[in-house]
Amino acid sequence: RFIPSSRIHDVKSGIAWEICRMKNAIGKLPGLAVLLVGKRRDSQTFIRIKIKACNEVGIASFIAELPEDCTEDEIINVISSYNENPSVHGIIVQLPLPQHLDQEKIVNAVSLEKDVDGFHPTNIGNLAMRGREPLFIPCAPMVCIELLLRSGVEIIGKKAAVIGRSQIAGLPTSLLLQRHNATVSTVHAFTKNPEQITSQADIVVTDVGVPNMVRGHWLKQGAVVVDMGTNLVKDPSCRQGYRVTGDVCFEEAIGVASAITPVPGGVGPVTISMLLSNTLDSAKRAYR
Ligand code: GUN
Repeated sequence: RFIPSSRIHDVKSGIAWEICRMKNAIGKLPGLAVLLVGKRRDSQTFIRIKIKACNEVGIASFIAELPEDCTEDEIINVISSYNENPSVHGIIVQLPLPQHLDQEKIVNAVSLEKDVDGFHPTNIGNLAMRGREPLFIPCAPMVCIELLLRSGVEIIGKKAAVIGRSQIAGLPTSLLLQRHNATVSTVHAFTKNPEQITSQADIVVTDVGVPNMVRGHWLKQGAVVVDMGTNLVKDPSCRQGYRVTGDVCFEEAIGVASAITPVPGGVGPVTISMLLSNTLDSAKRAYR
């Protein structure tokens, strides 16, 4: 079972429609600022996709590209100017940042009201705490839950294994699954015999960045698999010299899982739609 891509287009056309109405009503558009430090090929690709998606729905985009060797102060100055710019409603700092930079300090500099990635420590903290609501939830984890719910997968009381604990995907996914009352196990680089844990799970979510790591025998018969991996692997037969693949060995998993998201074409495109939706929500809040 797949989520039909028509649903994704539904989401995007809904956003485009709302932006059109906003333009007609108040003469304003939502704006998204994207910050890229250095020249990582994967980050450049992700940013290109995000900007294209903004153009498609009518979100104004602002791009700042800084050199690999720039300083924290230079980046924070750029972020501060976007924080103060009323035409900017969302700010994303493409991660990972070069090693010499303090990622937390930089993400912390993004105004809470414009943190459309949901990576600000206060947003993550509110996600972790009962009775609190973050202003923004990280996009990929939100998509993971949405896909499960819209596919009719029950989360309450189910065993979920989240492979990976990154601040931007694995950790918030575990928190969100707990909010939906799943029993969550986290599998990470120090976990002994990860397949023993994953093979008991009703829901398996991956965020590892290792192509084909999750094999068919890691999964329980009938498990639901959400692959959040976006790995670029060299492939001279492709036009750009590389292709995108997930963390799950799809050919093996498809014979075991009852539902699975493919890569490419699964979580990724919907994640971009969620980013657009967060940016629109932020603009609506700003102009309320
Ligand atoms: N790097 C990998 N995924 C993401 C994402 O969703 N947002 C940002 N800002 N950086 C990323």
